[in-house]
Amino acid sequence: MDKLVITGGRPLEGAVRISGAKNAALPAMAATLLAPGVHRLRNVPRLRDTQTFARVLELLGAKLSFEGNLLTIDTQGVNSVEAPYELVKTMRASIYVLAPLLARFGQARVSLPGGCAWGPRPVNLHLSGLQAMGAALEIESGYIVGRDVKLKGATIAFDVVSVGATVQLLMAAVLAEGTTVLENVALEPDVIALGEMLVASGARIAGLGTRRLTIHGVRALRPVDTEIIPDRIEAATFAAAAAMTGGNIRLEGVVPGHFEAPLGKLEEAGCVVQRSVDTVSVSGPPRPKAVNVVTQPFPGFPTDMQAQMIAVCAIAGGTSVVEDTIYLDRFTHVQELARMGARIELKGNVAVVTGVARLSGAQVMATDLRASASLVIAALAARGETVIDRIYHLDRGYETLEKKLGALGAEIRRVN
Ligand code: UD1
Repeated sequence: MDKLVITGGRPLEGAVRISGAKNAALPAMAATLLAPGVHRLRNVPRLRDTQTFARVLELLGAKLSFEGNLLTIDTQGVNSVEAPYELVKTMRASIYVLAPLLARFGQARVSLPGGCAWGPRPVNLHLSGLQAMGAALEIESGYIVGRDVKLKGATIAFDVVSVGATVQLLMAAVLAEGTTVLENVALEPDVIALGEMLVASGARIAGLGTRRLTIHGVRALRPVDTEIIPDRIEAATFAAAAAMTGGNIRLEGVVPGHFEAPLGKLEEAGCVVQRSVDTVSVSGPPRPKAVNVVTQPFPGFPTDMQAQMIAVCAIAGGTSVVEDTIYLDRFTHVQELARMGARIELKGNVAVVTGVARLSGAQVMATDLRASASLVIAALAARGETVIDRIYHLDRGYETLEKKLGALGAEIRRVN
């Protein structure tokens, strides 16, 4: 199994180009099922998760080819409606094929994803929403099964803001008969990007960018040529790395408004941040200041940056309080950061972090994608060598991370 070996203590310096967003690429890939034909998705990150999703689409009968970051998907020949457990269990977002399959074929057999490393991750809103639109879904041997489904417009008010459920129901509504109103939808840039892609494909969606979407179903959609938006979580992770190492880096190819909440917190921690149309420069302080963070749906502070922010707080002057309101158990990084000398007390979904002057290198284990990112940036700032095991988690969501960090002056290598 691959490991990362990092020798800490070097400030990051230079420019880094941010990749396309994993969480925007996956819904875009799913949406290609809605319109038979050849789609071109540009700026798709080459990650384990996009490869897994490509495999799901291939099993359904689509033809895919990658040239660099251009992904061409031909969904004309799709002839299966089954997404198997073996793939869905490795990547929950595979469930995004459910609505497109129901919309296009009136049937689907998609594995339920099960739990994940940081606790339960329900899909009840996806299922109840589709049921409200007329899909009589059954759970059979661990699979969500729909037969003879004819999706019809409905009014659905989500009681929790969910990215996944918003994506799922939006894809269900665009080809449904009649009008669907979705209330309390997620506003994450990934969701808006999907909405824009669907509009380019011929969908009729009103209210994009607000908490209420009104979708008038159309008979058919056209294949599209679209560009995946930059990855705001990758960008914010690099910004956090600059903050922790007292570095000075420029993030290129970004949309600053997509990660304003993490940038604001880094400014509060003492970073100097300069924004242009598509670049952000971050200059870290000699030592970050303590900050308090509460995760919220967009435009709030993203749960996907909680672990990395705890790493920053671990070396801050003072005591920080970090609360995750989205995923209450998402703290597996805390024990690993403690092995590097961090002082973190966990009280339910609240981490109280007492900053130490310096972390020290240790052998640690990556436990999930963002937890792994927090260990990497902690290691960049730590004294001595850190060996991070199980880094396949990082390969799910960061494109050529060690190359990009190496180019910024980090001492980092992959070994196996
Ligand atoms: C997406 C992101 C993930 C991010 C998360 C929150 C993708 C592929 N993944 O995950 O990186 O951490 O948003 O920003 O884009 N919930 C329910 N019932 C449901 C669905 C969700 O109760 O049917 C709850 C969840 O338990 C959670 C909250 O809603 O507390 C938000 O989850 P959601 O936005 O759905 O996360 P994902 O779409 O799975």
